[in-house]
Amino acid sequence: MTDAVLMCRPDHFGIEYEINPWMHIAVKVDHALAEEQWNALYRKYLELGVRVELAPPVSGLPDMVFTANAAVLWDDRAVLSNFHHAERQGEEAHWREELERLGFDVHELPRSLSFEGAGDALFLGDRLFCGYGFRTDRESHRPVARILEVDVVSLELVDPRFYHLDTCFCPLDATNVLAAPDAFAPDSMRLIRELVPNLIEVPVDVAAGFACNAMPLGQHLLSSLTISQMDAPLKAAGYTPIPLPMGEFLKAGGGVRCLSLPLGDGERGPARDAG
Ligand code: ARG
Repeated sequence: MTDAVLMCRPDHFGIEYEINPWMHIAVKVDHALAEEQWNALYRKYLELGVRVELAPPVSGLPDMVFTANAAVLWDDRAVLSNFHHAERQGEEAHWREELERLGFDVHELPRSLSFEGAGDALFLGDRLFCGYGFRTDRESHRPVARILEVDVVSLELVDPRFYHLDTCFCPLDATNVLAAPDAFAPDSMRLIRELVPNLIEVPVDVAAGFACNAMPLGQHLLSSLTISQMDAPLKAAGYTPIPLPMGEFLKAGGGVRCLSLPLGDGERGPARDAG
């Protein structure tokens, strides 16, 4: 189980631009509520024995709160994100600095390739599943796999609401995966069915509440409120959902998983102990 996560306080969080269909500048963020929701997640991690590293928030970079997009990590290696939109590219230097502080060996991809870190790259066992179609270029998958020395599976995302892989696909362990079939191209969905031992299918309206944007911790599954609708299949797989209100972050197109970059894995590591 992940024993540490990287988070970033929502001090400068807001909707200042629109780079996904959830974001509307006209819809204001309730700052006090965002802080409350972020703190509830932070406290839940501490309560479950997870160490939380905090990246310093930077003014003018409202999406830095979504630490999942900093990089993809494996053992002591990090592949830094090349953000697709100019609006988030200012984060890259800060993430490099933060990951180096945590002891990672930070690698970069050629500037021409877009890649958005753990938001689009999730491990099922030691195989890396990478999304493409909106933020991450398919051509980035091979160089990422080469740097991390892992096998990669490329999955095509087709619904703009599910623009990052972590909005519609969540490995719970080496066997169980939560996924929303409607978010994937038919060939990619076939591949998922072939490779995933136990697929827990999430209806598209439940996924649209960011239920798949979840963090498994032992037998717990931290997610947004709609995860309650997946109670029965999750319990059958041995998981207890922990629903957390994420409304203010949903306005930016993010939920629990986007707010958390797992830094370590107790069994075999994506990432070493940074303590
Ligand atoms: N507003 C952010 C963006 O569009 C949200 C990022 C969500 N992160 C994630 N890992 N899905 O880039």
